Amino acid sequence: MLRRLHPVQPDSFAFTPANLAWAEGQISKYPEGRQASAVIPLLWRAQEQEGWLSRAAIEHVADMLGLAHIRALEVATFYFMFQLQPVGSVAHIQICGTTSCMICGAEDLIKVCKEKIAPQAHQLSADGKFSWEEVECLGACTNAPMAQIGKDYYEDLTAESFAKLLDDMAAGKVPVPGPQNGRYASEPLSGLTSLTEYEAGKAKHNASVQLATDIGDTLKRIDGTEVPLLTPWLGKAAKPASKAAAKAEAKPAPAKAAGAAKRPQALDVAREGGADDLKKIKGVGPKLEELLNSLGFYHFDQIAAWTAEELAWVDENLEGFKGRASRDGWVEQAKLLAAGGDTEFSARVEKGDVY
Ligand code: FES
Repeated sequence: MLRRLHPVQPDSFAFTPANLAWAEGQISKYPEGRQASAVIPLLWRAQEQEGWLSRAAIEHVADMLGLAHIRALEVATFYFMFQLQPVGSVAHIQICGTTSCMICGAEDLIKVCKEKIAPQAHQLSADGKFSWEEVECLGACTNAPMAQIGKDYYEDLTAESFAKLLDDMAAGKVPVPGPQNGRYASEPLSGLTSLTEYEAGKAKHNASVQLATDIGDTLKRIDGTEVPLLTPWLGKAAKPASKAAAKAEAKPAPAKAAGAAKRPQALDVAREGGADDLKKIKGVGPKLEELLNSLGFYHFDQIAAWTAEELAWVDENLEGFKGRASRDGWVEQAKLLAAGGDTEFSARVEKGDVY
């Protein structure tokens, strides 16, 4: 397929201030002279901001990285994930047309696209709200047929449920991503036959859907304030890469009014002897540990002492990970760890089985 720049181009492109800070954070990952390595993240962020890549955006990214324009143009025109023409102002719909989805009804979904959006892929709908294309396997074959809409997956679709999704989006709604036939995740349609003990305590959504609804950027054009890019490699004095990161670093920030939520007591630095390895708490990875430290939490006993109101505050202030503290039972785990005990997970971390 020939991939050319669109004949109608805007005069200029600029990142939003927060996206610019994010882009500079990305560039700072690479050693001097290797900044060109940031070309794909920066092109992608330009596309997330505008919906597609104009010539001005591609050349702007090239200039930021000290590249000849043709080098960035080569990248943008090579990868199909980059849209070289305007996309729908509400959503660009990507229908998986590979084997599982094709067998399970992808062609019906494409028919809906042709009827409701435009007869040809990459054409805008008459009202400019939608565009569509067929893509290769998106890795959700168990939930075929499926479509990526905006940043998220809508799975287990039928022509009817898909047409309704489009109508809802056109009306300004953002339907909850994930399976659209009542399935929780990718379990058998007839229900679980093993691991049935997980049924009782399961959360409202599977983890992907929960994250999508927490972040809330399914159909949003990204302006850089959504999820912080933390830049620990720049040291403590580094400027946070976004408003959200700035908020996370502002330790004395007042608690958000979230019902009875109350900010737990925080520390400026870890106590003598150093911070505990919070990654021993199941659900806390390096990013969350960094976020917890930035909020003033370094020790198991601090977390173990959170009251219900304080837990609510933490849940509310875990930017990009809202609700994780209660969902993963951090307080209960921290109580065991603070008392010198081990959880099944922390024992695996100590053995080096978890990275
Ligand atoms: S075949 Fe459609 S997601 Fe894999």
